[in-house]
Amino acid sequence: MTLTPDRLADALAAVPQVALGTLPTPLVEAPRLAAAIGVGRLLVKRDDLTGLAFGGNKVRQLAFFLGAARAAGADTVIAGGSYDQSNHARVTAAAARAAGLRSVIVARPGGTHPGAQGNGLLTRLLATEIRVLDELAEAPGDRLGEVAHRARVFERLAEEQRAAGHVPYVITGTSVPLGVLGYVAGTLELEAQLRALGIERPVVAVTSAGATQAGIELANRLLGEPCRVQGLAYLPTGGQGPTWVATLAGEASGLIGAPLRIDPITVRNDDRAAGPAYGHLSDGRREAMRLAIETEGLLLDPVYTATGMAGLIALVRAGELTPRDTVVFIHTGGLPALFAYAPDLIA
Ligand SMILES: Cc1ncc(COP(=O)(O)O)c(C=O)c1O
Repeated sequence: MTLTPDRLADALAAVPQVALGTLPTPLVEAPRLAAAIGVGRLLVKRDDLTGLAFGGNKVRQLAFFLGAARAAGADTVIAGGSYDQSNHARVTAAAARAAGLRSVIVARPGGTHPGAQGNGLLTRLLATEIRVLDELAEAPGDRLGEVAHRARVFERLAEEQRAAGHVPYVITGTSVPLGVLGYVAGTLELEAQLRALGIERPVVAVTSAGATQAGIELANRLLGEPCRVQGLAYLPTGGQGPTWVATLAGEASGLIGAPLRIDPITVRNDDRAAGPAYGHLSDGRREAMRLAIETEGLLLDPVYTATGMAGLIALVRAGELTPRDTVVFIHTGGLPALFAYAPDLIA
């Protein structure tokens, strides 16, 4: 099934949403960075500039979650569940404020950069209530087990909220079908910009192992593949990235009445720059940050976009991208983490 951009926009408009971002975000040429890494042309889709509370990809995703919360008559959002440098927690707390709702943001103790700095500071300023829960530290290590554990903890908090007379809406994370729709919308926006510039079939490189790439994959396929999508995982996936993305994209397709089955074999998600661990400031991440700064004055965050750019550089070095390719790098934001990482960055 393929759809025109107008038909896809209509399908999306039928899903409840709240306007949160300053959109469209700019699509900016980065000629010196293109030359430095060795691709023919590089454009940066500045989704770090989505506006709300230092922006980033989460703003597009939260538009749909807050739409669902409002449609359900909720007055309180329960979300988070990760460490203090969570972009999701920061933007959810801001989105709830912008939609006139309360937020109970749950934080997991520990992490490499805990406390009231970077995202941790902003989330504390923005949330109605913050709960740092030891029981989240005991979550199973595997992805699905962790989500199930988190869902049980959130459900208990939801019960507490109901007992206090509130109507809670629980967001267990963005890697659920509704979270995918933000980048269906983002891809529609990008496709229009590419059409206006006459750019055909660029590689769209995005730092993701979940909802962000899934949204781009879904929209790109429904629009007849105007782009070649390259996901760049920010954590080691054990080769599971394509399956995670394909499953989410397929599940989300039903939400917009355009059911699609996506074979993971057709999804490109590469984790070769994601080691040795999530959030670790590896040499590759440092090099990516330095190159973007020195060539374009462009800031990347140390956790996500630095990994994506390092992955892009690795693909060029492996000969999988060449000076014949035009690449659009989706800057997914995450910049507040820079402040938390200050000691590591300046050392
Ligand atoms: C700045 C930033 N970039 C990219 C991502 C990747 O998101 P996902 O794998 O959920 O698509 C996240 C989400 O945590 C993020 O905060």
